[in-house]
Amino acid sequence: MTLLVTGGAGFIGSNFVLDWLADPATRDEPIVNLDLLSYAGNLKNLAALQGDARHIFVQGDIGDRALVDGLLAAHRPRAVVHFAAESHVDRSIHGPGEFMRTNVMGTFTLLEAARAHYAGLSGDDRAAFRFHHVSTDEVYGSLAADAPAFTESHTYEPNSPYSASKAASDHLVRAWHHTYGLPVLTTNCSNNYGPYHFPEKLIPLMIVNALAGKALPIYGDGLQVRDWLYVGDHCSAIRAVLARGRVGETYNVGGWNEKPNREIVHTICALLDQLRPHPEGPYTRLITHVTDRPGHDRRYAIDARKIERELGWRPAETFESGIRKTVQWYLDHADWVADVQSGGYRDWMSKQYGAA
Ligand code: NAD
Ligand code: DAU
Repeated sequence: MTLLVTGGAGFIGSNFVLDWLADPATRDEPIVNLDLLSYAGNLKNLAALQGDARHIFVQGDIGDRALVDGLLAAHRPRAVVHFAAESHVDRSIHGPGEFMRTNVMGTFTLLEAARAHYAGLSGDDRAAFRFHHVSTDEVYGSLAADAPAFTESHTYEPNSPYSASKAASDHLVRAWHHTYGLPVLTTNCSNNYGPYHFPEKLIPLMIVNALAGKALPIYGDGLQVRDWLYVGDHCSAIRAVLARGRVGETYNVGGWNEKPNREIVHTICALLDQLRPHPEGPYTRLITHVTDRPGHDRRYAIDARKIERELGWRPAETFESGIRKTVQWYLDHADWVADVQSGGYRDWMSKQYGAA
């Protein structure tokens, strides 16, 4: 048995691949990892798997139908776990085209390839096959301060080009199940944080900027609320849904950790004050308020009771334990940060894989 993972060199995908191949329950099942290596894809995240035959890395585009067909035919995976996407809201505001190309058309191509592959399966292989689509809570739009958290039946009200592209991909996945019978699963997760998080997103940006003595830019009043989940808990939720989720269903995944951005930044500063005190004083001295993100969603909150009830999944980390581990990880991996910031990881990738 094999899994085809897309986007497995990104933040969540690489955590998923590492966890999968470390866990005694799954470690014997190889992963074919199809990743374009966009700016967000970093094979250094997977350096621990270098030379490991259980990880087959393929640099390529989910929109390349011939490539995807070839991988499905050659490896006959029992499931596709689809992470590949353009993922950063601010980038989608500056340049939405790539989000439509990868998130919408790329998912369409992958679904078509999976449908053709599934049509050729029979018996146990057909019964076991799954297409797991990894999506976001942002498809539901923004919540008022006192509104109940998003359930799976909440209306889709995406507000950014990113969330609109993910909503479109969710709809395609749903339609490929209803129309063609493709055995799909969808998870809609809240904000992740943890190791290998690209420092364009709030938590890693604040950590690396603070350590570099740079400004900590909070958008607008900083009272926007997100629900935060440690990345390892998102990976365990995907594994639970893949193993036991009901075909055609969607599952919301969240950490019951709603926090305003300002509090997140203050927590990071306090942890750094403890772990790496600065002679000039508390890291909060670096906080600046900058122009708000256009169309900025005010609040997301996930009602995760369905996955808890049906699959017995619960997050293992609290926000306090997860954020401490995360800050410590960035302190311990200054080389990873320096590489990402200098673009050095891209040179390393072409040195390592360019000639192949
Ligand atoms: P990321 O930006 O860190 O990684 C995305 C990966 O996809 C990169 O490795 C990139 O090279 C690859 N990729 C991009 N375009 C591709 C293409 N055309 N073909 C093949 N590979 C391509 O993203 P992430 O934060 O790890 O998110 C992974 C998935 O989880 C996304 O679908 C995202 O929408 C979803 N999600 C993310 C979060 C979060 O908080 N980060 C929360 C919920 C859901
Ligand atoms: O909710 C899930 C989503 O979470 C995922 O689908 C996205 O892929 C992921 O990027 C994330 O989206 P957000 O826009 O919520 O994450 P980001 O880290 O960009 O921003 C988190 C909050 O912090 C948001 O309210 C904007 C704010 N922010 C962000 C940055 C980068 C700042 O105030 N300053 C910043 O510099």
